[in-house]
Amino acid sequence: NFLKQKNVYCDAVYRAALGLYIGELNNVLQMYASFQGEGLASAIADYKIRKLQGRGITVVPQPDCHAAGLDVLDGILAEITDLLKPEAEIAGLQFPRGTILIGPPGTGKSLFAKSAASRLGLPLLCADWAGLISPVPGESVANLKALLQSAEASAPCLLFWDDYDKAFASADLSKDTGEEKKLAGMLLTWLQDRTPPVYTIVTLNRINQIPPELKRRFDRTIFVDLPHEGARHDIFGIHLLKYCGAIPNWSDRDWKILISEYGECTPDEIGKAVYLAAVRSYRQGRTRQITIDDLLYQRKQFTPANIANPAQIQSIRNNSKFALKASSDDRSKWRVEPDPIFKTMLGR
Ligand SMILES: Nc1ncnc2c1ncn2[C@@H]1O[C@H](COP(=O)(O)OP(=O)(O)OP(=O)(O)O)[C@@H](O)[C@H]1O
Ligand SMILES: [Mg+2]
Repeated sequence: NFLKQKNVYCDAVYRAALGLYIGELNNVLQMYASFQGEGLASAIADYKIRKLQGRGITVVPQPDCHAAGLDVLDGILAEITDLLKPEAEIAGLQFPRGTILIGPPGTGKSLFAKSAASRLGLPLLCADWAGLISPVPGESVANLKALLQSAEASAPCLLFWDDYDKAFASADLSKDTGEEKKLAGMLLTWLQDRTPPVYTIVTLNRINQIPPELKRRFDRTIFVDLPHEGARHDIFGIHLLKYCGAIPNWSDRDWKILISEYGECTPDEIGKAVYLAAVRSYRQGRTRQITIDDLLYQRKQFTPANIANPAQIQSIRNNSKFALKASSDDRSKWRVEPDPIFKTMLGR
């Protein structure tokens, strides 16, 4: 209502302003008087994060690009947006707790979490275990408590635990491991009880790296697999746009060759190859003019991690059989039907 009195009619600003006192909001609006709409929303979100800096929370840099090919995750963002509307509360719908993102390295888990915050116009609080865990007895617990309080104070917000496995890998909850066990227990209770709208995103490589009781606290566990053909096309598009200013006008035939040659590559490997192709074209006096040949040349310069070590990706996949997939089936024109012989072998 206060914002309406100030003639602000923008959902993104309403979301960003939640959790601020009226007086504070008034000051912020004066400070950013020249901003409007989405710009104002992100200025408010930045203000909230600055308030929290130095209290056990790290500020993550803006993502280098948008995460392509993760349409199921995009749908979840739309759901969060709807659940932050006052109508959701009236309908008795509780705010969701969060999502676990699992998958092999370089598939866009961290990238998605970072871009989610800016797309939702919410502050992103990034917790890091290295900063939390202290050798001084009792200090780690106090740090975590302060962090969770800050998250609640800046709600609605995203609380992001990147590479969660690195912290919990050694924390066996069935054994008394002292401090770490206390931390894990505290987090479990918090996830169970808390009411302010804090959306928790956890990223890790394998689901068996976190205790099942923690997994149960989340609404969804989502598996981010290697990109299919359509997603590979879009990932190339995003990175090419970055270095060429536009997506090159290549023929479908050329695109198909490129997409096929980069099969088994992670989005991270695709992004790096486009970068190196951009460097090469620049050094050859063709700034911003990446060709298909540049990219095919780059492809020959490395062995994708999943070809070098297929057992690793297979074991991650086997572990994630029951998780929802981050991207739905490929319906793009780039999709390649599985080999008919392979289909016969499967009895289809
Ligand atoms: N879906 C995507 N679309 C476009 N680029 C992507 C995508 N996923 C990853 N990338 C590129 O790869 C880089 C690394 O991705 P990211 O850090 O998100 O991987 P990750 O899944 O978190 O890996 P890890 O498990 O090692 O933490 C990104 O900064 C981006 O350049
Ligand atoms: Mg990551």
